[in-house]
Amino acid sequence: MTAGTPDSPMIRMSSVDKHFGSLHVLQDIDLTVPPGQVVVVLGPSGSGKSTLCRAINRLEPIDSGTVEIDGKPLPAEGRALAELRADVGMVFQQFNLFAHKTILENVLLGPIKVRKLDKATAEREATALLERVGIADQAQKYPAQLSGGQQQRAAIARALAMKPKVMLFDEPTSALDPEMVNEVLDVMAGLAAEGMTMLVVTHEMGFARRAAHRVLFMADGRIVEDSTPSRFFEAPESARAQDFLSKILTH
Ligand SMILES: Nc1ncnc2c1ncn2[C@@H]1O[C@H](COP(=O)(O)OP(=O)(O)OP(=O)(O)O)[C@@H](O)[C@H]1O
Ligand SMILES: [Mg+2]
Repeated sequence: MTAGTPDSPMIRMSSVDKHFGSLHVLQDIDLTVPPGQVVVVLGPSGSGKSTLCRAINRLEPIDSGTVEIDGKPLPAEGRALAELRADVGMVFQQFNLFAHKTILENVLLGPIKVRKLDKATAEREATALLERVGIADQAQKYPAQLSGGQQQRAAIARALAMKPKVMLFDEPTSALDPEMVNEVLDVMAGLAAEGMTMLVVTHEMGFARRAAHRVLFMADGRIVEDSTPSRFFEAPESARAQDFLSKILTH
């Protein structure tokens, strides 16, 4: 498989359409994300943010259009899809850790099964990742023994263990108690600062202002605004975005 050229975008979606029955959830989406860019996706409930994330790694099949990761088109299915999907890490609202495996085992699994690392190497890498997200001392515990914030950091470590080129986050802090939100956002901001290409669906406006290079605002399956954080928050152009911001910023 040929790698992308240095100039190729990390994510490229062209004319992507997706329906759920008669509902047109992604409408002619064109999106190009260069390497190292941190994109925050905002928008009202049901606007298609999760579907956009899921379309990027083909968790959700699309009706038409193309999705490329690092210059390579995403195959529709099969082994090639599994390989390319490893390039795209995803972290969800619900942490989706394996309940009957320790935190270390959760992080080890993908590298051993998919990247075919030997156990010693995988353990070394996994331990370093758990240190990086600040939970090395939790390695031998089971997910239920951890706080929500620690579990979500374990989920981030597990995704990073696959050495992804792109990280997708779909409301990673929405299920957390407020006092645990920042420990997860700090890990994400660290990743952003290290140059990871990231697409983040979040309601955390502080994170959007602090860590994002770009804000996408979605409504009704379309990208309605494509802006910088300062431009978006200070002077949103569309009535939809103005309405959205007036609702969230007054709470
Ligand atoms: N599997 C599915 N089958 C049918 N409709 C779906 C399915 N998944 C999502 N939808 C619908 O598609 C639309 C977009 O959903 P999506 O989850 O992408 O929105 P969202 O912007 O992530 O919303 P939220 O902020 O509530 O998470 C919604 O109207 C939703 O009800
Ligand atoms: Mg969603």
